[in-house]
Amino acid sequence: MAARQQARLGAVQETLFITLAARAAESQRKHPVLRDPRAVELLRSVDYDAAKYGPGAGGFVTVLRTAIIDFWVRGFLAAHPGGTVVELGTGLNTRFERVDNGRVHWLDLDLPDTIDLRRKFFADTGRRRMVAASVLDEGWLPEAARSPGPYFFVAEGVLVYLPQDQVLATLARIAQRFPGALLALDTYPGRTFEQQHRLAARKGMDARWAWACDDPRSLERSGLEVRQSATLTRPPRDMRAELPARYRYLVPLADPLLGKSMDLTLFRASSPAAAGPAGTARAPGAA
Ligand SMILES: C[S@@+](CC[C@H](N)C(=O)[O-])C[C@H]1O[C@@H](n2cnc3c(N)ncnc32)[C@H](O)[C@@H]1O
Repeated sequence: MAARQQARLGAVQETLFITLAARAAESQRKHPVLRDPRAVELLRSVDYDAAKYGPGAGGFVTVLRTAIIDFWVRGFLAAHPGGTVVELGTGLNTRFERVDNGRVHWLDLDLPDTIDLRRKFFADTGRRRMVAASVLDEGWLPEAARSPGPYFFVAEGVLVYLPQDQVLATLARIAQRFPGALLALDTYPGRTFEQQHRLAARKGMDARWAWACDDPRSLERSGLEVRQSATLTRPPRDMRAELPARYRYLVPLADPLLGKSMDLTLFRASSPAAAGPAGTARAPGAA
């Protein structure tokens, strides 16, 4: 068996293994909500302590979240087959492999240590490249703009680790630079945020969430307009019929517990005039 790659990552960066492991586990089910054979391969190829986050960490919450975003990205590609998808905080995500239509252009952005690890498994091509940067930096925006529009930005499982003022400034910058672009992201209300902090403390995890958002509509102040809203128990209507039976029937039953734990929102960047200057967007709930 080939030697496994060593991963030397910061605490937040390491959380990429939670989502990778969840996709790999789901892919091996008989009727998975998504198929990701590359995730299975990747997980086998990296030397990482799978027990660290406990059994089933991330689990179906993660894969449903990912499947909903895949659904939105596929919808975008159906309308704009040659557009650009920018995956912010990509980790070892393989959304490109799951949705590639042979024409899409793609940027996978993450912090330098994550991109170093990613480069052990993926290569840049004419349509797909990796960018080592913080999503909070401004330098990657012109690089994204060199790829053909229209644009779809995905930030899955990443903004929650970043301070609110910096998240809002980043969203405002994207909205200003890419009016009309779509942006899909996950947000977590205060209650989930507090539960997650307790869980992280119990498991001795160093990676801590930093941003709670009770109402995704509050992000409209950063120059975004809500196009579609979903939760784990209320995925987009057209997607429901495609879900494996256990999700179709069981997930609505979990609504009282899971329905308010996470919001998934598809935004459209509104006109630059609608966005305040980058960095000056008011915090949700601020006067
Ligand atoms: C929970 S993982 C999610 C990975 C991927 N989006 C997925 O769904 O599999 C969080 C990711 O955010 C990345 N990340 C954290 N802070 C970041 C930042 N400031 N800029 C870019 N990426 C960041 C981490 O390196 C990690 O890959």
